[in-house]
Amino acid sequence: MSDVTRLGILLSGRGSNFLALAQACAAGEVPAEIALVLSNVAGAEGIDRARQMGLETAVIEHRGLKRAEHERRVLAAVDSAGCEWICLAGYMRLLSKAFIERYPERILNIHPSLLPSFPGLDVHKQVLDYGVRVSGCTVHLVDAGLDTGPVVEQRVVWVNSDDTPETLASRVLHEEHIAYKAALHRLLVEPWVVEGRRVCFR
Ligand code: GRF
Repeated sequence: MSDVTRLGILLSGRGSNFLALAQACAAGEVPAEIALVLSNVAGAEGIDRARQMGLETAVIEHRGLKRAEHERRVLAAVDSAGCEWICLAGYMRLLSKAFIERYPERILNIHPSLLPSFPGLDVHKQVLDYGVRVSGCTVHLVDAGLDTGPVVEQRVVWVNSDDTPETLASRVLHEEHIAYKAALHRLLVEPWVVEGRRVCFR
C-alpha cells in the first residue's frame, strides 16, 4: 500500500479550502493525493477548478433524489475512487450516521467559528451579533451532529469593532487554509486516538 493517502473532497461552492489542500498535497506538505472532487452542485466553482487541474471529478446533484439515494451514489463514487479519507470543504449537506459509519473517524470538516460556539449557517453574522471579541475556525472529525464532532485543530482571529461579516470571513478563511492542512497532516503522520470527545495525539 502506498504511503500517500487518497482523499475524497466533497464541496458545494467556491472551493478555496479544497485548493488549499490540493496545494499542500502537491507541495508534499501533506502525505496525501486528491483522488476525487465531488460536488452536489453542478455549477460549483470548486468543481471547475478541479477539472482545470485535471483531477477526477463527479457531480451528483441532490435535487430530486431522496437523501439515502443521494448518499448511496456519493458513497459509490468515493469508494470506486479508492478514497481513504473524506474532507468536507464547504459541503452543504449533513451526512447521515450510515454514511459516517462507512468512514469511521476518517471524515473531516472545517467550520468558520470556534466550535462549539456558532455552529450552522451565517456564522460570521452570528459572531458579530453576539459581540464576541475572538473568532476563528475549527477542523473536526465528523459525527452525525451539526458541527459537533471531536476537534482536531483551531485557529483564532480577533474580531474588530468595524468588522462586517465579509471582512471577518476573509480573515477567518485565511486561517482555515492553514488549519485544514495542519490538521490533516497531523492525523496522517502522528499516532492518535479519540477518547471521549478528545482527539489525543500520542
Ligand atoms: C468555509 O468558510 C468553510 O469553513 C465552510 O464553508 C466555507 C467554504 O469555503 N464550511 P470554500 O468553498 O472552501 O472557499
